[in-house]
Amino acid sequence: MTQRFGDYQNEIYLAGLFGTQPKLSLTFAELEDRARAALPPSVWSYVAGGAGDEHTQRANTEAFRNWGLVPRMMVGAAQRDLTVDLFGLRLPTPLLMAPVGVIGLCAQDGHGDLATARAAARTGVPMIASTLSEDPLETVAAELGDTPGFFQLYTPTDRALAESLVRRAETAGFKAVVVTLDTWVTGWRPRDLATGNFPQLRGHALANYTSDPVFRARLAKPPEEDPQAAVLEWTGIFGNPLTWDDLPWLRSLTTLPLVLKGLCHPEDVRRARDGGVDGVYCSNHGGRQANGGLPALDALPDVVAAADGLPVLFDSGVRTGADAVKALALGATAVAVGRPYAYGLALDGADGIVHVLRSLLAEADLLMAVDGYPTLADLRAEGALRRV
Ligand code: FNR
Repeated sequence: MTQRFGDYQNEIYLAGLFGTQPKLSLTFAELEDRARAALPPSVWSYVAGGAGDEHTQRANTEAFRNWGLVPRMMVGAAQRDLTVDLFGLRLPTPLLMAPVGVIGLCAQDGHGDLATARAAARTGVPMIASTLSEDPLETVAAELGDTPGFFQLYTPTDRALAESLVRRAETAGFKAVVVTLDTWVTGWRPRDLATGNFPQLRGHALANYTSDPVFRARLAKPPEEDPQAAVLEWTGIFGNPLTWDDLPWLRSLTTLPLVLKGLCHPEDVRRARDGGVDGVYCSNHGGRQANGGLPALDALPDVVAAADGLPVLFDSGVRTGADAVKALALGATAVAVGRPYAYGLALDGADGIVHVLRSLLAEADLLMAVDGYPTLADLRAEGALRRV
């Protein structure tokens, strides 16, 4: 199962010999610039923007510069093993695609959720499919091929609807349920506020609701006849300010692995653990929710310690393969990206996502080769990573 991810560079150099340059950017900065030009302004600002003056969003990416891998020589790291075991699944890479609610709109054809699933099928990188989707979760799952997918739940206030969404995710074949806790209310986002733009209020990304029997039963008329009323109903039930008292109910919703997303405090991790979750997901939502200042990466070591062996997923600010390696070295079991794959999609559909994922994996693999860390366990060993 071990793949030679670094070989992507050989493909690129070889194509160069025959006069073909890579279609897409090899750096995040260039990818971002080109995505800005390619996306409609409202989608661009929704995807690229964050909370407040975006200090936390910037801090997320800058935090990686505070850490450096210590090179080791004479290791003979000719083969690298990036495989991980997660929830009983053997994954070819430690990379995941974070749930992105408007990913559908990032594609030229408006079906970015499907393109993302196809990219997952082609790369083996699991997609965490958002509740907020342009296509129903069943249609998304059908495109995943042999790659496992996880379903991300935004818990509505209507418990029957939550149960229905989870049941549908199980039936569709998703392999884990990721409950996002940090977005029961939308954070203060000046970029979107400046244009009065909130995609869901314009009827976007609501396919999992409008296709749900429990949601439909709440409406006087089918959403196809009265989409406005469906949006209004959605605004009334979307956000549920859960408390720890709700965890037993969440746990009872599924026998699939249950993951809580948005945990940054070790005490919260301990409570999650005590409540029987199967994994914790350290994230500050890419700085989109609270402009609180703390980069998610800085929270990771304490989260890993409190998780005490429970799998820890991580995202927020990962822009390069080197960033992913650092998060893994700090103890993350798997690392997710959000905006990077959204930009790849905006530029070249599923091919663009595949390029972004392969580039991240190639860089990570080559870093591990050059610095002499052939396995993820080696990265986690004492002394591998130093604070700069
Ligand atoms: C998100 N994120 C997100 N998270 C989630 O649990 N459900 C969702 O529907 C969304 N939607 C969403 C939309 C957009 C446009 C973005 C950029 C992000 C957060 C996402 O899962 C992840 O936490 C961050 O994107 C990670 O940070 P980076 O990689 O974008 O810095």
